[in-house]
Amino acid sequence: MTILAIESSCDDTSAAVIGDGLLLSNVIASQRVHENYGGVVPELASRAHQENIVPVVDEALRQAGVKKEDLNAIAFTRGPGLLGSLLVGTSFAKGLAISLGIPLIDVNHLHGHVLSHFIKREPDDETPEFPFICLLISGGNSQIVLAHSEGEMEILGKTIDDAAGEAFDKCAKVMGLPYPGGPHIDRLAAEGNPERFKFAKPHIPGLDYSFSGLKTSFLYTLRDNLKADPEFIEKNKADLAASLQKTIIDILLDKLDKAVREHPVRHLAIGGGVSANSGVRKAVEEFCTKRGIRAWIPPRVFTTDNAAMVAQAALFKLKAGDFCPLDAPPYSRVEI
Ligand code: KG4
Repeated sequence: MTILAIESSCDDTSAAVIGDGLLLSNVIASQRVHENYGGVVPELASRAHQENIVPVVDEALRQAGVKKEDLNAIAFTRGPGLLGSLLVGTSFAKGLAISLGIPLIDVNHLHGHVLSHFIKREPDDETPEFPFICLLISGGNSQIVLAHSEGEMEILGKTIDDAAGEAFDKCAKVMGLPYPGGPHIDRLAAEGNPERFKFAKPHIPGLDYSFSGLKTSFLYTLRDNLKADPEFIEKNKADLAASLQKTIIDILLDKLDKAVREHPVRHLAIGGGVSANSGVRKAVEEFCTKRGIRAWIPPRVFTTDNAAMVAQAALFKLKAGDFCPLDAPPYSRVEI
């Protein structure tokens, strides 16, 4: 079975091919146009997807050594994401499926992140065991998901305000770092003292997250210190980044600890853009080792938006005969 998958939910245009259960290609065109604006501009994202989609799909097929006529199904990210961006991938996938006379498979982007750990590049690559917990942390979501099976996922907790990625990006922005700020904080944090500054941590019940208080306390720290020293940020950027990163990790792991106590599992995964963060990866490894849990840390290429995870999620749906009608509209918001 050979599947071509298309991902266009935000600002990465991606296409991937899975054949006989193995990933054959995964091409990602990241959009640079948003860097000038400090955030993703939806209309520009849609236009860039339109320019990128044909060459990206062509390249994915070429790298996989697969012809369009060899495909058995076309998969696409149906949501959640930016509606204009999703429409480009959705319409393209539908057009291709109609012209080739093959079925269409819709994928929930969040399922894709959770199932990215099942992507195989070699036949004997190992995969997680169900049920497992996945800490899904991206620019738009922060959730603790209990994956019962490929299709059955339960949200144990989620953010009530900002996502972890937004906390990274917004704090980075006030420090004058380029967008997206997460990778810059990661880089600076490696040289800084994580104990230097203390920022607020939330006290909310259950397994839900909150990052807005941290953001406010970060801003107050900058404001108070900038009064005394206008070069405060420049002089202390590594310590600020390290302390911010440590606080975000503490907040994430505090609820994760509660989650594994309430729902004992043998496997735990992370996914989403923030799971590329070096500190997060190391802390989750240690967290799992201490508790005798097997940790699944994705290769960095599968942390941010990519079509390989969409192809993998679609492969499960293909096996289950779960196809999508041609009039299925994309959705901007959805629970997992
Ligand atoms: O999953 P993703 O690519 O898509 C969206 O949800 O939009 O996640 C993007 C997020 C951004 O907030 C970005 O700053 C963050 O992932 N990110 C990182 C790192 N790499 C990407 N955050 C911290 N450290 C990183 N190394």
